[in-house]
Amino acid sequence: MSDANPGTHRERADGSDSPAQVTGAEWWRHAVIYQIYPRSFADGNGDGIGDLRGIIDHLDYIDSLGVDGIWLGPVMSSPQADHGYDVADYRDIDPIFGTLADMDDLIAACHQRGLKITLDFVPNHTSEAHPWFQAALAAGPGSPERDRYLFRPGRGEHGELPPNNWRSVFGGPSWTRVIESDGTPGEWYYHLFAPEQPDLNWRNPDVLPEFSDVLRFWLRRGIDGFRIDVSDAPMKDPGFPDTADEQPLIPKDEASGVHDIYRAFRTVFDSFDGDRMAVVETGAPAEIVALFLRPDEMNLAFNFSFTRSPWDADAIRDAITSALAANDAVGAPTTWVTDNHDMPRSVSRYGTSLRLVGEYVPALDQQAEVDVALGIRRHRAMALLMCALPGTVYLYNGQELGLPNVDDLPEAVLQDPVWERSGHTERGRDGCRVPMPWSGDEPPYGFSTNRQTWLPMPQGWGHYTVENEDADAESMLMLYRRALSLRAIHPGLGRGAIRWLEAADAVLALEVASELEPVVVVVNTGGTPAPLPAEIPVGITILSSDPTVPTGSNVVEIPADATVWLRRP
Ligand code: BGC
Repeated sequence: MSDANPGTHRERADGSDSPAQVTGAEWWRHAVIYQIYPRSFADGNGDGIGDLRGIIDHLDYIDSLGVDGIWLGPVMSSPQADHGYDVADYRDIDPIFGTLADMDDLIAACHQRGLKITLDFVPNHTSEAHPWFQAALAAGPGSPERDRYLFRPGRGEHGELPPNNWRSVFGGPSWTRVIESDGTPGEWYYHLFAPEQPDLNWRNPDVLPEFSDVLRFWLRRGIDGFRIDVSDAPMKDPGFPDTADEQPLIPKDEASGVHDIYRAFRTVFDSFDGDRMAVVETGAPAEIVALFLRPDEMNLAFNFSFTRSPWDADAIRDAITSALAANDAVGAPTTWVTDNHDMPRSVSRYGTSLRLVGEYVPALDQQAEVDVALGIRRHRAMALLMCALPGTVYLYNGQELGLPNVDDLPEAVLQDPVWERSGHTERGRDGCRVPMPWSGDEPPYGFSTNRQTWLPMPQGWGHYTVENEDADAESMLMLYRRALSLRAIHPGLGRGAIRWLEAADAVLALEVASELEPVVVVVNTGGTPAPLPAEIPVGITILSSDPTVPTGSNVVEIPADATVWLRRP
């Protein structure tokens, strides 16, 4: 990218003040980013929990996938009430994951391989162990320290009732009452998630400078960008009114002030060299999401309508067209994702009758039978659709192996706060966080030297290991590698404008424009083979999710639950 401001000097990763060193032309527009859930990727020190050393030791594997960079889940100092989404010190690494020196090594090792490295950044709430929250508790009602959080008096004669009726995302009330220093019950504080995650007051003047400085701390160390946790939530309705559905009122429009935060973050990013970026996490409708992607705000936003789409052609098409329209209008790319650490793995979602229960943190209907083989076929098909669409792709560690969700973890090992907070009615997200199988036929499958892994690994995962899939030309791993290597060299895949083609029921057909040659992508979500679109009655296979359709063959129909990339004869 040419420097938009050639005359200015920008801060370099090493802190020196020399002219801007620009790397990569808006690399994030067409990138493939690999999400690492740090506890579950690879354990370098034998304590049964994944860590930074484990990641460094497996960077060649990540590189071999053909991705452009990584997103590292939260690794900052944290009591781990929500596995790192409760940060006590934003400028240090939690000892379970390693040290700042390990992080510097990881950054250097990524950059040596040409991989970008991005971090999870959690600005909506801190840990209750954060010094600011501890100071707020000590300082008492009305103090400037309390004003950094959302403390309110209770309702009722003695303040014994919470300030309003909003529910926490993790279940239960979203207010917790504190005991004041004189030993009496006092004010309540607001937490969108668990009580261990008090929400900050983003209207307090200390908050933005502090978090901007945290960003600078990591940008100086060479971090290429961030995934911003619950990005749309910092500004709650200041009146804290009761709501009919007990859901929090969190405005996201211009008047709410939330966009000023992201404009300020943009200024921080732009004061650094390179092309630093952020992806925002918001479940809002596409037009609202796009507000965060205006040129003076952030770069990317996950398209969660796509993530949540059932295996249904109309639903998938709607999720694609609405996001593209909204993002195109602000000149932003669209970001495709099927799996992450908050959702049941898509192999299991696509392998059931597809009932997701739960709003923000969906869980699979526990009654549903999962047909894993079917889920894998559909995941393969979805992978080829996703990798062809214009924009950025996020892959969640283990999805490249086709791991299913682990729905039978014993109750005694469940760790997600959702399990406790829901009064044991929702099992939570542990099922998609089980450690990665690397090799061998028995737990812990090379993940650790310790058999006691932080979540137990199932028997029978030998065929999902990296070792096994590496040796199998038809594995999920090989499909992703092939798809990503074609995407990297073909100027249309992942970049070209798309045109929808008329197709049979249950079939999605689109053409991705390219100067070289357009690629026709045909997805059959139906249970029986379907004809190609009338416009292209015969095609030559570039890549197929169904191994029975060889590359280079002439095809006239698409197998059930499959995607084929085609060129015209
Ligand atoms: C993260 C969750 C986390 C929550 C609270 C979400 O956006 O993805 O894993 O529990 O934020 O920080």
